[in-house]
Amino acid sequence: MKRPIVGIIMGSDSDLPVMREARDVLEAAGATCEMKILSAHRTPKAMMDYVQGAEGRGMKIIIAGAGGAAHLPGMAAALTPLPVIGVPIKSAAFSGLDSLLSIVQMPGGVPVATMAVNGAKNAGLLALRILALGDREFRLRLEEQRRLMEEQAAGKARRLEEEE
Ligand code: RP5
Repeated sequence: MKRPIVGIIMGSDSDLPVMREARDVLEAAGATCEMKILSAHRTPKAMMDYVQGAEGRGMKIIIAGAGGAAHLPGMAAALTPLPVIGVPIKSAAFSGLDSLLSIVQMPGGVPVATMAVNGAKNAGLLALRILALGDREFRLRLEEQRRLMEEQAAGKARRLEEEE
């Protein structure tokens, strides 16, 4: 098996159904990912070890999903020079607004590219765009994905016209 180049981390197993969407996009494009449950609050030492070791293990990007008081993406960005993409997870109390604000409002100097609430698919696609900057294969896969999306949207438009 190829070495993982994208680390997908999340605060809890309750984030998994959303975060799998990032893995699915990346693996469909041939990018090997590694998924880990690591919490900034519940397992801070394990989280720090993982993030600080990521670049040395050949990782290129970290995608971090968390909900509620969602400190995981910001902490990850503070601990590694790798690009960090944050995914706010929809929470029970505030429907993800708490997660979004916790992730997006980073202080100057520590950037996190913040996706929409539950936007793990776009996190995968943004990671793919970053990887495609330096890799022709990923670039081709990205173009394929965009073509497919266009075809699907055109198909929906055609079906509506046929129904009318
Ligand atoms: C965060 O708390 C996790 O990212 C999760 O979204 C949220 C709730 O966690 P559980 O109580 O479901 O484990 O750390």
